[in-house]
Amino acid sequence: MSLAVGFDSVTVRRGNAEILHRMSVSIPRHCVCAVLGRSGAGKTTFIKALLGLLPVAAGRIITEHGALGDPGVLAAHRRETAAVFQDHALIDRLTTIENVQLGLAHLRSPWNPAPWPVDYRIAAATALREVDMLPFAHQRVAKLSGGQRQRVGIARALVREPKLLVADEPFSSLDPILTRTLCRLIRDNVTRLGATAILVLHQIDLALEMSDWVVGLSEGQVLFCGPTPEFLTSSLHSIFPALPPPATLALAV
Ligand SMILES: Nc1ncnc2c1ncn2[C@@H]1O[C@H](COP(=O)(O)OP(=O)(O)O)[C@@H](O)[C@H]1O
Ligand SMILES: [Mg+2]
Repeated sequence: MSLAVGFDSVTVRRGNAEILHRMSVSIPRHCVCAVLGRSGAGKTTFIKALLGLLPVAAGRIITEHGALGDPGVLAAHRRETAAVFQDHALIDRLTTIENVQLGLAHLRSPWNPAPWPVDYRIAAATALREVDMLPFAHQRVAKLSGGQRQRVGIARALVREPKLLVADEPFSSLDPILTRTLCRLIRDNVTRLGATAILVLHQIDLALEMSDWVVGLSEGQVLFCGPTPEFLTSSLHSIFPALPPPATLALAV
């Protein structure tokens, strides 16, 4: 199995607190991986560590390029990765399409005063159309709703055609119909680009339906890491004790 990302006994601290405890995880390439766990389990911390946004106190994070501790590896990892954050991380004073174009900022100098090349503008418009936000292309994002901002964040990630798509609760402000459409979009992109998606999802039925692989966290530890069907039968209830039995859930998905 070739790995997209591996955590080898990784510990992460924030301030004085140890948040992730000697975590070991293997995520294969070309899969959709759902990161599951209750609130406070360490999902966002895990995602930030794998994006190289938090220092690792012990252990190693391995990517396709090597261990993240190496600055060259981190740069290569970031070039090929796109992230969708919980708070959307958009620039309010820019328009929707300008925010999406920022996903392509690695392809041209940020100091270049010329208009964006037409190819890039077309790519950004296409990504906006895919998330059903093209009519808002020239609106400043400050005026958008939470769900609309979330879709702009997803478009900005997809326009990069990333090898690794990492998203922290990307559908939390969306209605169920849009959520399904965007799930399909992410799945199609993963297939088309031969990419890997690692998604923190709080909707369990959606996670079970759309993922091939699950990383289940509890209190900063890995309770499960493996194929989704196995998770359903073996570990779902150790992470979410209040859920109905697996047979009921399986029928629901
Ligand atoms: N900046 C921080 N400083 C100290 N503790 C933090 C910080 N951010 C998160 N934590 C703690 O780390 C734990 C995991 O948080 P987080 O990764 O955000 O969980 P999740 O995304 O699963 O809800 C929680 O107990 C939280 O209080
Ligand atoms: Mg979180």
